[in-house]
Amino acid sequence: MAFLECNDLIKLYTDEQSKIQVPALRGVEFSANEGDLISIIGPSGSGKSTLINLIGGIDKPSSGEIMLDGTNITKLKDRELTYYRRNRIGFLYQLPERNLIWNLSAYKNVVVPMRLSGRWSHETQKKRALELLKDVGLEQRRKHKPHQLSGGEAQRTGIAVALANDPDIVLADEPTGELDSVTTFKIIEYFKQLNASLGKTFLVVTHDHRFANMTTKAMRIMDGRIVGLHRAKDPSISISDREEIIYVDDHGNLRIPESIRQKVGIQNHVQIEVREGYAIIIPVRGDEVDD
Ligand SMILES: Nc1ncnc2c1ncn2[C@@H]1O[C@H](COP(=O)(O)OP(=O)(O)OP(=O)(O)O)[C@@H](O)[C@H]1O
Ligand SMILES: [Mg+2]
Repeated sequence: MAFLECNDLIKLYTDEQSKIQVPALRGVEFSANEGDLISIIGPSGSGKSTLINLIGGIDKPSSGEIMLDGTNITKLKDRELTYYRRNRIGFLYQLPERNLIWNLSAYKNVVVPMRLSGRWSHETQKKRALELLKDVGLEQRRKHKPHQLSGGEAQRTGIAVALANDPDIVLADEPTGELDSVTTFKIIEYFKQLNASLGKTFLVVTHDHRFANMTTKAMRIMDGRIVGLHRAKDPSISISDREEIIYVDDHGNLRIPESIRQKVGIQNHVQIEVREGYAIIIPVRGDEVDD
């Protein structure tokens, strides 16, 4: 079994006014290995935050299953879920206000989650906090409060906070959305470094293609479904040059990315030819179809 597995995740929200159910996720399936650095890209409203919240145990799916390192988190009781969120997940959001306590120093911010978890001795808390701040290059800034830090420094403190309880996975929802491009690049570098040095698994929602290009796996989500999965053994390969894996649902539907449709001229019809274990998709022009 993979380290993280999502099986047929469906999440419906009920619209407050119309009382109509709106699907935010329509059958998400994917798996990840320990130590993966995964990016999720997709348009606004496609279900990225919903997916992160379900994996993080903040919200529950309408149906489907999430397994993290052998635990079926969709079956956890509320108390177990609190433990899970606190100890096994590290969260990092776009706005520093959501990641940090405003009147506490960077150092204290990293100590707080460890104190809440109750798993670490006082000495270990201090040692870990200093080590983590060093890992994100903020040793010298440890006494500063969030408003005395730059946007990038605040996010780096947020990374240290997310890692404080040595979680199984760090879930980041557009962590660089508020930052300029140079700072964004620095944060990406820290993710890469920590991913390599700590072997930690990261799942990062991003709009930044440079980030997606630097990850081991890039998932494209659209209308609540994973529509593409780019894998790279060598993350230096650009996302557009990677092998693409397309999800096929239980009814056999698949979504062919627009770039591929344009490249080979696929409009509304294709012909599928089966040849020696392959299914070849051949574009059929509109005037070739008998109505
Ligand atoms: N609490 C909620 N109640 C009702 N609908 C919701 C709720 N949360 C999300 N949705 C809807 O579910 C869909 C997916 O939302 P989600 O926040 O996951 O998108 P997203 O991909 O993170 O978008 P963005 O890039 O804008 O952050 C949207 O149509 C959204 O309106
Ligand atoms: Mg979102």
